[in-house]
Amino acid sequence: MLSVENIDVYRGKTHVLRKLSLSVDQGEIVALVGANGAGKTTTLRTVSGLLHPARGRIDYTPEKGKEPLEITGMAPEQIVQAGISHCPEGRGIFSQLSVKENLLIGAYLRSDKGIQKDLDMVFDMFPILEKRENQAGGVLSGGEQMMLALGRALMSRPRLLILDEPSLGLAPLAIEIIFNMIQTINAQGVTILIVEQNAVMALELSSRAYVIETGRVLLSGSSRDLACDPGVQKAFLGGK
Ligand SMILES: Nc1ncnc2c1ncn2[C@@H]1O[C@H](COP(=O)(O)OP(=O)(O)O)[C@@H](O)[C@H]1O
Ligand SMILES: [Mg+2]
Repeated sequence: MLSVENIDVYRGKTHVLRKLSLSVDQGEIVALVGANGAGKTTTLRTVSGLLHPARGRIDYTPEKGKEPLEITGMAPEQIVQAGISHCPEGRGIFSQLSVKENLLIGAYLRSDKGIQKDLDMVFDMFPILEKRENQAGGVLSGGEQMMLALGRALMSRPRLLILDEPSLGLAPLAIEIIFNMIQTINAQGVTILIVEQNAVMALELSSRAYVIETGRVLLSGSSRDLACDPGVQKAFLGGK
């Protein structure tokens, strides 16, 4: 569904990603793990068109059997319209706007008649958001803001949902709720590419994972195998 091939990405003069490649198949949950500053957010922002690679290419196949669409260098709006939605690091809630307004921003590129139906679907999924639909986004708790960010990302009807550090700053109970929701969303047919500092949870949630170090893929494989890897345990799972 997504194929990232040998991308090189610079931020200012810093060469952040070096010949980085990864792939995501339809229906999967794929995790990127790695230390702070490894290049995980840069990778996601490049897939979403917020950053452009200096070299390499990115292809996206919305449905099995369809022709791949090269999205390298496409504008973020076009990439959203193609079916990729990005839930950013730090959630990006508009704190002055209401919960409902925040959700509708997720649908701003749509002109079809299904928006109200999808709003109802998000409210069914997160009843607390319906209860608070007229309250400002800024007054929500961290967990509720994460639900709002997820709901907003779903309002563009993605086939591929990109999540950057959804557990960051949340209490354990809120993390559990969010991770359950991510599984539910995946079970409904949305493919997921997730970045998580919490490597234990990321490897439990995903079927495959990539370990990123200084802008390169250090290791990749099934999440179960990676969770047993002594190097991964030592570096990320608190092992000795
Ligand atoms: N806006 C920026 N300008 C220049 N360098 C940046 C910027 N954002 C991040 N970087 C650098 O890019 C590298 C990777 O950052 P990032 O992708 O945010 O890592 P991660 O998400 O894995 O913590 C870091 O070394 C960081 O210093
Ligand atoms: Mg990051």
